[in-house]
Amino acid sequence: MDNAAAGKNMGRKVALVTGASSGLGRAVSIKLALAGQFVILAARSEAGLAETARLITAAGGQCLTVPTDVRQEESILALKAEADKIGFVSTVVNNAGVGKFARFTHSSTADWDLQMEVNLRGPYLVSRIFSGEMQIQKYGRIVFINSTAGLQPYTESAAYVASKHGLKGLADSLREELRKYNIKVISVFPGAFSSDFWEKVSVEFDQSGMMSCENVAEFVVSAILEPSNLVIEDIVLRRTLGDF
Ligand SMILES: NC(=O)c1ccc[n+]([C@@H]2O[C@H](COP(=O)([O-])OP(=O)(O)OC[C@H]3O[C@@H](n4cnc5c(N)ncnc54)[C@H](OP(=O)(O)O)[C@@H]3O)[C@@H](O)[C@H]2O)c1
Repeated sequence: MDNAAAGKNMGRKVALVTGASSGLGRAVSIKLALAGQFVILAARSEAGLAETARLITAAGGQCLTVPTDVRQEESILALKAEADKIGFVSTVVNNAGVGKFARFTHSSTADWDLQMEVNLRGPYLVSRIFSGEMQIQKYGRIVFINSTAGLQPYTESAAYVASKHGLKGLADSLREELRKYNIKVISVFPGAFSSDFWEKVSVEFDQSGMMSCENVAEFVVSAILEPSNLVIEDIVLRRTLGDF
């Protein structure tokens, strides 16, 4: 447990980031910590989480790592129990996600299930389990890291596109339900950015011209920190040249 007692005692704002072991989740976590938030880092890879924690601590920030699988409801309930020891989680960033790309007829049921479970069911569970306290506190920010695949189709991506379109529906519905509790629901729709995401897919993609995690994270965090009574509902980020 990293700096847990300090987080509770100092009454700092507490944020949860899923998929914090690499890529965009790591970049968002570091920026939130630099902005003074205590960040709870959730993902499966303990080594990846430890590296994010090391970077945060080196920069003078505070965090807690909690190994979590967003496919497992018990794992998210255990994460909530750890978070409760820190304090009220006022920001949740649903960032964990996975892409498996294949021609439709060659795609597998296992890959369909995986993408639905990580990209859609996980954010549903995390948001449901963490938003109850936000409603009581009448304050909260719930971010959904979506994709341009949540707004438009791509070939050889049916399951990923379906999961991200579903995520948009989840976020839009939740936003309407939670407005009266002063909870801002923010969807982020980035085009391709350079990260491990592209190392895990079967086709090779040139990442050299893509956006960076840091660039995308900048907009995510500024939307979270926006202090006024406005909510930046949807953020679409593409490189100037367009997709790919
Ligand atoms: N890269 C892009 O071009 C791009 C574009 C648009 C949208 N996005 C979205 O951006 C988000 C972040 O992706 P990224 O590009 O930063 O990729 P990444 O580096 O591969 O990060 C994905 C993160 O999700 C976590 N994750 C995967 N399965 C999980 C599970 N079952 N439980 C908990 N955590 C899990 C991974 O951690 P563990 O493996 O340690 O669990 C990892 O931290 C995703 O939602 C992705 O769909 C990416």
